[in-house]
Amino acid sequence: MAKMWAGRFKKEVDSKVNDFNSSISFDGRMYRHDIMGSIAHATMLGKTGIIDPAESEKIITGLEGILADLDSGALSLDMEAEDIHMFVEAELTKRLGDTGKRLHTARSRNDQVAVDIRLYLRDEIKEISAEVQELIQTLCEMASEHTETIMPGYTHLQRAQPITFAHHLMAYANMLLRDLGRLSDTMKRMNVNPLGSSALATTTYPIDREMTSSLLHFDAPMANSLDGVSDRDFCIELASAISTIMMHLSRFSEEIILWSSWEFKFIELDDAYATGSSIMPQKKNPDVAELVRGKTGRVYGDLVSLLSMMKSLPLAYNKDMQEDKEAIFDAVDTVKLCLTTFTPMLKTARILKENMRAAAAKGFINATDCADYLVKKGMPFRDAYKITGTLVGICVDTGKTLETLPLSTYRELCGLFDEDVYAAISLEQCAMARNVLGGPAKESVERQIAQVKAALETA
Ligand code: ARG
Repeated sequence: MAKMWAGRFKKEVDSKVNDFNSSISFDGRMYRHDIMGSIAHATMLGKTGIIDPAESEKIITGLEGILADLDSGALSLDMEAEDIHMFVEAELTKRLGDTGKRLHTARSRNDQVAVDIRLYLRDEIKEISAEVQELIQTLCEMASEHTETIMPGYTHLQRAQPITFAHHLMAYANMLLRDLGRLSDTMKRMNVNPLGSSALATTTYPIDREMTSSLLHFDAPMANSLDGVSDRDFCIELASAISTIMMHLSRFSEEIILWSSWEFKFIELDDAYATGSSIMPQKKNPDVAELVRGKTGRVYGDLVSLLSMMKSLPLAYNKDMQEDKEAIFDAVDTVKLCLTTFTPMLKTARILKENMRAAAAKGFINATDCADYLVKKGMPFRDAYKITGTLVGICVDTGKTLETLPLSTYRELCGLFDEDVYAAISLEQCAMARNVLGGPAKESVERQIAQVKAALETA
């Protein structure tokens, strides 16, 4: 089929070049947004009198018909087309004849594609945000049930101090809340209208860019037309926000993988969210969490592809920019896939409280509290730290814990120790006494849950 731009060419494009050049296989998914953009453009052309209003009406009805037919499946995308923009315009012209050929007045594919991606990603941001909110909600619900579930908190993956499972979960809730902020921040800079930039230098027609902006619910037209067609910062910002979400999910997945191991056994994944081995009958593998961790690398790759693709491009549009779509679409698809699988996996996991409690009882995670006990009786912290260290050494040598060490041994080292030391170093006390803002105490975590829920309301 002859190209729409065939006029100045004497030969047909080589068929391999045709395939190489074509983007319909991946930009076809933007058909709805392409048509929305075209309807706004056609409306503006009619209202400003750039084209006859009656023809504008026909174009709009024609575009609506194409959209309905694509939605219903009565019309399918032509994979021979160069891209989605050419496909829609060709189909319109097939249906309307010469009237269809007027749609592209005062427009270029350069501003058209920039509009399409923004409209498409705007919808995707809404979906991703809803999924992130759902996960935060799940974390709040689970946390409410585990404000007294003692577990070891770690540094260097070594048992450090007692916390609660709720406290741990709410750390992720806060991380994800920042992710929501990053998504909405990306949206702010994405939601501006490049339409009217045309190829690069706007147009001599009296177009109304404010009108297309408000028809498409953009906040404003982009202020500079070269920037309008050259900018892909919004793809990079979104890929970066998504990469951070993935990084969070990946850290969480890593913990879920550890927690599901026999060495930890803090949780047991539901059968519906785990898989078996083809050879080892005893295996129950956390494949979902591992895949989320694995796919994180791939999303980072998308971000790096976008950054590298843009870094040497002179203004304005360059065909390299067609590569933006596969990268950003992959990032968007991957994060949605991960979120929709991760949340129910977490929700259905069985929390093995007793094992968490038992792990917390090993590893001297109340040693800081033992030192603090002496400090509260007037001893300088460094001295208290040393005495407690010696006590831990004795426990290690004698196979005891700070809870089971007799008071006589305590008193041999320091006369400040009394019977009340046992209450001071009980794991429950250690966690619940940390009722400082942000801490693991039940009340503190309940405040955190309330805060996160309130933030969700306004998100
Ligand atoms: N398919 C192209 C893309 O995705 C559309 C813009 C083409 N513009 C051009 N001047 N060839 O970037």
